[in-house]
Amino acid sequence: MPRPPHPQLIRAERLFAVSDLHVDHARNRDWVADLGRENYQDSVLLLAGDISHRLERIRETFSVLTTMFKKVFFVPGNHDLWVTGDEIDSLEKLRHLEEACREAGVLRQPGLIDSGDSVVRIVPLDSWYHEPEDSGDSLFVGRDGDEAWRDVWADYRRIRWPVNSMGGGIFEHLTDASRGFERHAGQVPVVIFSHFLPRRELLRGRSSEEASRRWEPRHAFNFSRVAGSRAIDRNLRSLNSSVHVYGHQHRNRDRVIEGVRYVSHCLGYPAERDRAHIVDLEQGPILLWDATGGLRSQCLRSDEGRKG
Ligand SMILES: [Fe+2]
Ligand SMILES: [Fe+2]
Repeated sequence: MPRPPHPQLIRAERLFAVSDLHVDHARNRDWVADLGRENYQDSVLLLAGDISHRLERIRETFSVLTTMFKKVFFVPGNHDLWVTGDEIDSLEKLRHLEEACREAGVLRQPGLIDSGDSVVRIVPLDSWYHEPEDSGDSLFVGRDGDEAWRDVWADYRRIRWPVNSMGGGIFEHLTDASRGFERHAGQVPVVIFSHFLPRRELLRGRSSEEASRRWEPRHAFNFSRVAGSRAIDRNLRSLNSSVHVYGHQHRNRDRVIEGVRYVSHCLGYPAERDRAHIVDLEQGPILLWDATGGLRSQCLRSDEGRKG
């Protein structure tokens, strides 16, 4: 779906990000409400997908967040694209999401945030995941036995693509909408955000304990099958990204790889926070840039080395 390639100019002081709000959970709606109306009036928020599978909940969330933040940007996650109502398929759901964004003033095109002293460019990048049968860009890492659990992945029942009419596949169809966003010369730092993971390394935490204890979802389902695509990484590097924000895994990371800072800051499910599978949400969305400091330097999370 074509989106205006020209950046929206925004006067603001700070840039924050969060993903996977999953506001179907009451505790998550409370978390959003507790951000407060006064604290972020000078700020921009990147919402990196998975608000809800219900359009009404998404509209409500847009309405709350657009009163809290100066501007909100959004890319859809897989849950947002589930067919749950009268939609024929997930592309029609995407059209309804676009409409909800327009009505709420939520941005889907690139933006340029200028504080007067400092500037940062924002590029929303729609994407999907590549499964190993689809493409060599899949992030899939095979392990014995886990393929028996494939059916627990709800997208197989609730996502519906009109594959025959799309030719190149859903990933290409969705990323095509971002084509035409101009390449950037380098003086202005670029923050790109998508819902899905761009690299295999990000599937795992850094310590071996974290790797064995935390990266597995509740079932033996192999998440790497549906995690993301290396094509996302190619796309963000072709756009000279300094920072890439993503979500989807519900395991938060903050890491620099080959010159790009990768940040995930998912709210996820309450039960995952209770078990400390998701950490560092007490302070709200993560700060990426501000007028005085520019792009924030990498800040290691607790699951990235401060504790086991
Ligand atoms: Fe999610
Ligand atoms: Fe997701």
